Amino acid sequence: MANIWITGADGQLGKALREKHFNPLDELFFTDREVDITDPRAITDFANKNDVDTIINCAAYTNVDRAEDHEQDARAVNRDGVANLAALCREQGNLLVHLSTDYVFDGETNAPYHERHATNPLSAYGRTKRDGELAIRRSGCLHLIIRTSWLFSSTGDNFPRAILRLAAERDELRVVNDQTGSPTFAGDLADAILRLLSVDELPEYQGIYHYANAGSCSRYDLAREILALSGSTCRVIPVTTAELPARAPRPPYSVLDSRKIRDAFGLEIPDWRDALRRCFG
Ligand SMILES: NC(=O)c1ccc[n+]([C@@H]2O[C@H](COP(=O)([O-])OP(=O)(O)OC[C@H]3O[C@@H](n4cnc5c(N)ncnc54)[C@H](OP(=O)(O)O)[C@@H]3O)[C@@H](O)[C@H]2O)c1
Repeated sequence: MANIWITGADGQLGKALREKHFNPLDELFFTDREVDITDPRAITDFANKNDVDTIINCAAYTNVDRAEDHEQDARAVNRDGVANLAALCREQGNLLVHLSTDYVFDGETNAPYHERHATNPLSAYGRTKRDGELAIRRSGCLHLIIRTSWLFSSTGDNFPRAILRLAAERDELRVVNDQTGSPTFAGDLADAILRLLSVDELPEYQGIYHYANAGSCSRYDLAREILALSGSTCRVIPVTTAELPARAPRPPYSVLDSRKIRDAFGLEIPDWRDALRRCFG
């Protein structure tokens, strides 16, 4: 039995976790902005009041383009807020499960990234997330850091939902064909997190893991797949990132190799197309 606190619980992953069946003996606490992770006293008070022993940190500054012009704001949450949670977990002997991102990598490769690959973020968002990882590792708290990629769910801001919205307004969409990654269903990631929490001897497993749905595609492929699923007749035109620049640079290739988490925890990781169908079909 554990007292599990899920922060950032109104986001995509937090909502997915709300729908899952945890161990019925666990006590669950879901918070979002009302317990600000950048406020050390607020998090300590909350953890003490509820006798928390496990934190799943889904709270993050996730607007990649906005972070480019507001790096301090992103750092306050993604590095300093995470450092606050890590210090609390270190002090109280608690487990911190934390989410990070494929954007810690620069994408200058064409083989899936494993956990030991050197990070080199291109964007402000990626830097602040990388610094959050480092803060956890330096804190010495018991931790599992899970990097994921191209997260989607039936709610919130995500790429498939943006494509569906735009396709309803236009006959034609231009989508980049030179960014490759692994779309990941928040529901599948939530299942994986539950599986992690269920193992005995968790301290032996601490470290960094990659979790993404199996397979990979370009943004263009993903747009075509979601529109085909929805029956949309909107045309999709492949373009390059140079033709359709965004505020923040993205890695051209950020496929994550999820074999470590799969083998360590005996996970079956569904293909991204199957995941997309289960989410939007
Ligand atoms: N989305 C992706 O494509 C993606 C890809 C790779 C990795 N990840 C990582 O996966 C994790 C979950 O992502 P997600 O898509 O579920 O994120 P999300 O939907 O943006 O949810 C994050 C939640 O945290 C809240 N929050 C922000 N600052 C906070 C603070 N100081 N204190 C407490 N709560 C705060 C947000 O509130 P507001 O909405 O009011 O800001 C939001 O409800 C994050 O660590 C993210 O970096 C995401």
